[in-house]
Amino acid sequence: MKQSIIKGTGMYVPPNVITNHDLSKFMDTSDEWIKQRTGIEQRHWIDQKGATGSADLGFKAAEIALEKAGWTPEDLDFIIFATLSPDIMFPGSGCLLQAKLGLNSTPALDIRQQCTGFLYGIATADAYIKAGMADKVLLVGGEVHSSGLDKSTRGRDVTVIFGDGAAAVCIEGLETDEKVGLLASSLHADGNLADALMTELPASRLPKRCPKGLPTDDLRYYPVMDGPAIFKKAVRMLPRVINESLEKAQLTLEDIDLIIPHQANMRINQALGQFLKVDDNKIFHNIQKYGNTTAASIPIALHEAIEQERVGKPGEIVLFAGLGAGLTWGSAIYKFL
Ligand code: ACO
Repeated sequence: MKQSIIKGTGMYVPPNVITNHDLSKFMDTSDEWIKQRTGIEQRHWIDQKGATGSADLGFKAAEIALEKAGWTPEDLDFIIFATLSPDIMFPGSGCLLQAKLGLNSTPALDIRQQCTGFLYGIATADAYIKAGMADKVLLVGGEVHSSGLDKSTRGRDVTVIFGDGAAAVCIEGLETDEKVGLLASSLHADGNLADALMTELPASRLPKRCPKGLPTDDLRYYPVMDGPAIFKKAVRMLPRVINESLEKAQLTLEDIDLIIPHQANMRINQALGQFLKVDDNKIFHNIQKYGNTTAASIPIALHEAIEQERVGKPGEIVLFAGLGAGLTWGSAIYKFL
């Protein structure tokens, strides 16, 4: 049986750092409020002159991951791009990334699963590998949030949490009888709660998809979120979905060396630790530096955890989990070779 093995990771965030104090210059917020409620100290945003999309950030992350894996773009036989902020409405960012990599026939798939994009992506890569449909997969999570946020006080609850960034993972099928690679994954969605966190426009379901005047005329171009409802849902569903994957992999929390949760709010991840009765040093946090980079958040954290040698030695096991817009939620367990 083929197992899905991570051969290399990479990340990229734009150099432009926006501190909480910077935000307080154009909206009614404060460093104290943001730190206390979310744990975020700063985020990276592209420069707001335009011309940088999610695929551009993804390309830079992919270059690093490919180099770490010792692969060239020509080695790839499948590309998966997870994003909620595609460069353009269509075609997908996976196609745009494929072209940036200098390719012209490698299949490319976009995944629109927001904060669980990486979890849906790694499960898809694993399924393709196990089905014999691909052997070398590039999975990228990339987001440019900053060009689509309401930067007035009206949008402060959402705008302060999002950062731009991308990360990439090279995944290869390995024929082995060993229990390694992706050991289990569990995915869920509840579309009944779609409007708890969404950006409505542009929308094909509306008779007039093209706006009159500027997009800022219509608030539906900005993300809206029922933050407290999502917070409560995350604290309730994440432990359940973690246990679901542990059961599938026939493991317990003691077997896990590091938990890498989606970085949406440090308080959610601390509450998760308390609920699971797991010491906080077994949970990876980097939301302080990047905010919520959505589909990029788990792979950025994975890349940093490996670079910091928090995890990655043969036999070590990492557990990923996240919940976000959709609503979607999931978890996955990976054992290093
Ligand atoms: N600065 C100052 N005050 C603020 C800000 C801000 N940036 N944002 C909101 N407030 C105010 C509100 O107006 C409100 O004021 P009021 O009491 O006078 O009405 C007060 O702070 C409390 O607002 P809440 O929304 O209840 O604050 P909460 O503690 O819930 O924090 C937050 C908000 C950070 C958004 C939190 O709810 C959260 O993190 N939710 C989960 C987010 C999440 O996980 N999203 C999913 C992933 S994202 C994705 O999938 C794309």
